[in-house]
Amino acid sequence: MKVLVTGGAGFIGGNFVHHMVNKYPDYEIVNLDLLTYAGNLETLKPVENKPNYKFVKGDIADRKFIFDLFEKEKFDIVVNFAAESHVDRSIENPEIFVKTNVLGTTTLLDASKEFNVKRYHQVSTDEVYGDLPLDRPDLFFTEETPLHTSSPYSSSKASADLFVMAYYRTFGLPVTISRCSNNYGPYHFPEKLIPLMISRALADESLPVYGKGENVRDWLHVHDHCEAIDLIIHKGNVGEVYNVGGHNERTNLEVVKTILKALDKPESLISYVTDRPGHDLRYAIDPAKLENELGWKPEYTFDTGIKMTIDWYLNNRDWWENIISGEYRDYYEKMYSNR
Ligand code: NAD
Ligand code: TYD
Repeated sequence: MKVLVTGGAGFIGGNFVHHMVNKYPDYEIVNLDLLTYAGNLETLKPVENKPNYKFVKGDIADRKFIFDLFEKEKFDIVVNFAAESHVDRSIENPEIFVKTNVLGTTTLLDASKEFNVKRYHQVSTDEVYGDLPLDRPDLFFTEETPLHTSSPYSSSKASADLFVMAYYRTFGLPVTISRCSNNYGPYHFPEKLIPLMISRALADESLPVYGKGENVRDWLHVHDHCEAIDLIIHKGNVGEVYNVGGHNERTNLEVVKTILKALDKPESLISYVTDRPGHDLRYAIDPAKLENELGWKPEYTFDTGIKMTIDWYLNNRDWWENIISGEYRDYYEKMYSNR
C-alpha cells in the first residue's frame, strides 16, 4: 500500500506520519509538504531514516508537479492534511487560504481521479459547521448540521469539503471526510492557543486571552485524531463524513488556568486583549457515528492529555525554541540541499 500524506511536516500530519510509519512497516508513506512557516522537518526526525518513509517538497496547488508525482508514485491512498490552518492569519490574508485549501484540494482530487486512487481522504474541521450558542449545552455538531462558516479559514475548508463530495457524486471518486474538533499534543506550532500559552508562561510573558476567555473549544488529543483517520481510511464507507471529537469542552480561560497551575505560574500573567473578529463562540462534536459504525473511542481525557502535552513541551524545548527563534527554517537546507 502506498500512502500520500500531504502536510506531513505540520502538527497533525506530522503525528499521523509517525503513526503510519511505525504501525504499518509494509506500507510506503510519502510525505508531501511545501514547508511553509508551519512546516517543520524537525518533527519528522524520529522517522526520517525509516525505509518505509520518504519526504517530497512541493505545493499541492501546483498542478504539473502533482500530476507528475501521482503518475510516478501510483498512490493507493491520499490523506490531505496540507492547509493554511490558522484563523487569525486567514483574517489578515484570506487569499492564500483559497489557493491552498480550495485549489490545492481540487488539484489533488483531479490527480486522484486521473490516477485511480483507491481512497481520497480529506482532513476537515468542525469549524465548517460554524458555532453553537454558549447557553445551549445540549446542542452538538452532527454530520447533518448545515455548513455555516464564520472565518475565511472555515469558509475555505467548507468549500474544499463541497468539492470532495462533488467528486464522489459526479465522478465516483472514493472519498471520505473527517471533521475533527480542536487538536492538542506534541509538535503543535506555538501560534495556536495551547502551545502559545505554554511557551509564553514558561518565559513569564503575558498570556493574550481574546475577549473574556468565555469561548468554548472541544479539545481532542492528536493521537486520538490519528487513530480515527487510520480507522476511516481502512474501514470507513466511501462518500461519508465522520465527525471526530471526545466531549472535552473547556472555555479558553479554563485551558489557560490549567496550564498556569500545572507550570506553577501566577494567573496575573493573563492579559485580556481585543476579541478576534467574528470569533466562534462554542464548538462541540457529537462523535456517535464514528463510535457506533467504526468502533472508535478516544484514549485520552483532556485532563490526562494536557498533562502529557505540558510534559512534552518541557522535555522538548529545542523543538519549539527553534521555531520561536526561526532556526527551524534552516533545517531543510541543511538536510536536503545536497540530496
Ligand atoms: P499546520 O498548519 O500545523 O500544518 C499544515 C501543513 O501543511 C504545514 O506543514 C505546511 O507546510 C503544509 N502546507 C501548507 N500549504 C501547503 C501547500 N500549498 N502544499 C503542501 N503543503 C502545504 O496544520 P494542522 O493543525 O496540522 O492541521 C492539519 C489539517 O487538519 C488542516 O487541514 C486543518 O484544517 C485540519 N484540522 C486542524 C485542527 C487543529 O486543531 N489544528 C482541527 C481539525 C482539523
Ligand atoms: P486557536 O488555537 O487559534 O484555534 P481555533 O481558532 O481554530 O479554535 O484558538 C483557540 C481558541 O483560543 C479560540 O477561541 C481563540 C483563542 N485564542 C486566544 O484567546 N488567544 C490567543 O492568543 C490565541 C492564538 C487563541
